[in-house]
Amino acid sequence: MSHTREEHLWIPESDLEGMSVDTLSVRAGQIRTGQLEHSDAIFPTSSFVYGSAAQAAARFGGEEEGNIYSRFTNPTVQAFEGRIAAMEGGEKAVATASGMAAILSTCMSLLKTGDHVVCSRGVFGTTNVLFQKYMARFGVETTFVSLTGVDEWQAAIRPETRMLFIETPSNPLCEVADVEALAGLAHGNDALLVVDNCFCTPILQRPLELGADLVIHSATKYLDGQGRCIGGVVVGPAKYLDEIYGFIRSAGPTMSPFNAWVFQKGLETLPIRMRAHCDNALELAKWLETQPSVEKVFYAGLESHPQHELAKKQQSGFGGMVSFMVKGGREQAWRFIDGTRMISITANLGDVKTTITHPATTTHGRLAPDDKTKAGITENLIRLSVGIEAIDDLKTDLARGFQALED
Ligand SMILES: Cc1ncc(COP(=O)(O)O)c(C=O)c1O
Repeated sequence: MSHTREEHLWIPESDLEGMSVDTLSVRAGQIRTGQLEHSDAIFPTSSFVYGSAAQAAARFGGEEEGNIYSRFTNPTVQAFEGRIAAMEGGEKAVATASGMAAILSTCMSLLKTGDHVVCSRGVFGTTNVLFQKYMARFGVETTFVSLTGVDEWQAAIRPETRMLFIETPSNPLCEVADVEALAGLAHGNDALLVVDNCFCTPILQRPLELGADLVIHSATKYLDGQGRCIGGVVVGPAKYLDEIYGFIRSAGPTMSPFNAWVFQKGLETLPIRMRAHCDNALELAKWLETQPSVEKVFYAGLESHPQHELAKKQQSGFGGMVSFMVKGGREQAWRFIDGTRMISITANLGDVKTTITHPATTTHGRLAPDDKTKAGITENLIRLSVGIEAIDDLKTDLARGFQALED
């Protein structure tokens, strides 16, 4: 359908139909104001005004669409939601104050007392705590299983199982789940498959196309990409997203307009950043494998990785997270970390700056010792979130870590 530029202040969704995720990351979801600004506007306002008392009543009564209050909707937040929904191939998205708020809101909206969840053991430590400690208090029980053993998932399913929850690739061991197989299992048992797509982003993996029901992101990570803001988002069909939106509107873990604007701008460079992360990570993983002080490297891009073929099938790249074990225990791991000089010692990941973490005492430190062992979080494990610095400079800094092990 033809239209003049004046008739449309933003590009209608239909004009972007069939376009690649690289284009959607730059173009989808923009809400342009009457000022005709080229870059995305930001709306830092808590409420919105009406032309009359009657219009206010119509908005509150739901007879007229439009903004009321930013805990409900905000144009900057909606612009971010529109863009990430288009990129994931989902009908709708709802943004949240953090990645954890996205997971909590999904559970609170779609589960009830007596329901059962099956979750992969290797999920982010706080996700594990949320299920084990807090959801359990509301009568939602969770069984933890190995991410990769579909038989174990099958065996864990009960008549009251309503949700299968995975992170793939997993944090920090980079294990890869068979999303299609788990979606089939979920749907055969009247349950939903929820995928935390934080490590891959829609640039490398689109779980909804593989049969998942909902995709969750900690936008804090690659979607921002520069370590500035905390945020999260859930993407999927309207029938679930409307429920999740209802919870967020009532409970309040809303994304701030400023953060939404930062994420919106972050998405524009996501495709090129992800390619740079993947290239550097693959090169470093191969290099780490050749180091005498390294016991094992975990990266799905390596042919030695047990799910290498599966990752090749369901992902278009292997991502920027690489974990490895140094020979020894905590002392050697800490000595290695402290030996680096440029790489940031911080728990955040998905940043353009390379970061280094000791999962056993930081991100996964709150896990019970037995859960830690089962999740493979050993004392000699080090996690790298590989950034986009020059590869030779990264090797130079990591070589300082290896030197510290010999001193
Ligand atoms: C895979 C994964 N999911 C969820 C989260 C939680 O996100 P947030 O810190 O934005 O609440 C994290 C945080 O590190 C994560 O790594």
